[in-house]
This record gives sequence, C-alpha cells and structure tokens, in this order.
Amino acid sequence: MSETAKITVPWVRDHKRKRGSDPIVMVTAYDTPGSRIADRAGVDVVLVGDSVANTVLGYEDTLSVTISDMAHHVAAVARARPRCLVVADMPWLSYHVGVEDAVRNAASLIRAGAEAVKLEGGVSRVRVVEAIVDAEIPVMGHLGLTPQSVHAMGGYRVQAKNTTAAEELLGSARALEAAGCFAVVLEGVPDVVGSEVTRAVEIPTIGIGAGPSCDGQVLVFHDVLGLSDGPGPKFVRRYEDLGDRATKAMAQYARDVRSGEFPGDEESYHASDELRRALGRDDPGLLT
Ligand code: KIV
Repeated sequence: MSETAKITVPWVRDHKRKRGSDPIVMVTAYDTPGSRIADRAGVDVVLVGDSVANTVLGYEDTLSVTISDMAHHVAAVARARPRCLVVADMPWLSYHVGVEDAVRNAASLIRAGAEAVKLEGGVSRVRVVEAIVDAEIPVMGHLGLTPQSVHAMGGYRVQAKNTTAAEELLGSARALEAAGCFAVVLEGVPDVVGSEVTRAVEIPTIGIGAGPSCDGQVLVFHDVLGLSDGPGPKFVRRYEDLGDRATKAMAQYARDVRSGEFPGDEESYHASDELRRALGRDDPGLLT
C-alpha cells in the first residue's frame, strides 16, 4: 500500500503480524491539531477515546462523557481529514440499555465522522456488536482492564491474572471475533495473556499494557507527549515532555508582557506618517 493511501477497516483487519504485517500503530486524538499530528507522524489508527474525559475535560474517570460529547470530539478529529482510520469510543451507557439505542448511538458517531466504533466488554456484548455490525458499522472490541467498569473492577487493576480469568478473556475474544469485530483492544493484562489471545484469534489485537506480542499498540496522546499530570501507568512510555516545555514557554510570555518586552516593533502594526502627524504622534515612542 502506498504511503498516502487511506487506512480502512479491511486494511486493519488484514494486519496480523503472524501473516507478516508490521504492528499497527494507534493513538488517541481528541481535536483537529491532535489528529493532524498523529496523521503527519504516520500513525495508522486514531481513536477518539472516551479518555477525553480524563485527559481533556478534567473528569476523574470516563463515566461522565456522553454520546454528544463524543460526537463533538469525533467531528473535530475528522475535520483534519486524516489518512488514518478514525475510530470512536462509545461512551458508558450508550450501548447498555438496548440494542436499538446502541445502533442509533453508533450511527451518530459515524455521522460525526468516525469510520468505526469501539466498545468495552466481552460475551455480554455479543448481541450489541452483532446489531451494530448488521447496520454496516465496523466494531472494535475492548477487553481486559475496561475503564468504564472501574467500579465493578474495584479500581484500575490488571485483569486476567489467574487461569480462570485468562480463559474467560480468551473466550470473550473468540466471541467478539465471531460476532464480527474487526479488531480488539487488550488493556492491562499480563504479557503472556496478550500473546495467547493474539494467537487464538484471526483479528488483530491492539495492546495497551498487554505486552509486545499484540498485533498493534495504542497509547493515549497526552501520555506519549507528556501532557498529562503524574507518572501515569506502568505501560506508558513518554516520548516528550511537552507539558513542561509549554509551561516554560508560557512563563516567558508572561515575563515579557510584564517587562514590556512584548509586543515589540515587529509584532505591531504601523501607521502611515500622515496618520501619525494627524494624531500629533510623530515621535517614535508609543509607551504612553
Ligand atoms: O479511551 C481510550 O483512550 C481507550 C484506549 C486507552 C484504548 O480506550
């Protein structure tokens, strides 16, 4: 495929490492500049994650974002017209209260500019996945540490840590594949479980804290660039410290305003000599 060809759902579905593909690169994005940065960097998939709740909107968890919040951010990401595939998270309660409601909510994200949706959960979500797929909307699954289940899990904890839980997760991955998911995110599971699921299904697995054997990796935009507060989870690797650099740059701006260093002559518009004379201001200084 040429460097500039649009990434599609079939492209992602075909990218299984055991069939010789490179790992799929996925990152979250929540707005037009973020979408442009990811796209120009050559990322394959942008996920408009419900992590927008914590990273951008200042909430403690992802449970507060609604389908209209998500549609607002999806539209901003899609306006960059990225080459990457745009996947939108279905927020909590947008696919839990009935299949018809779920299909309509998925459709509203597609109408906002997404090309696929992602939802959390395993066997219990099969009916809803089938219905959304039946409406011609591609679905990405999400298993393991599913942040919308934070209260049920008793916190953000690594999942599938014993044999029963690992087997249950494998069963869920197979069930999502059979229901028509084109890929599945595996979050917060031991590396060997990530590897086993990746071997067990023919759709690509995209890991976040699921070890190196997955068919792709995903991280949160703000974690990659150092825009989030605190050290973050173990699975995060920071490639920049933009938060710190941005604070330093902003502090310099504040100092320059207070010292009169900004704006300078080159950042100011200048009047004609005639206007200056008419205003009685043919002196060069403008500080008063
Ligand atoms: O919302 C999100 O950012 C996610 C990824 C971390 C997988 O679901």
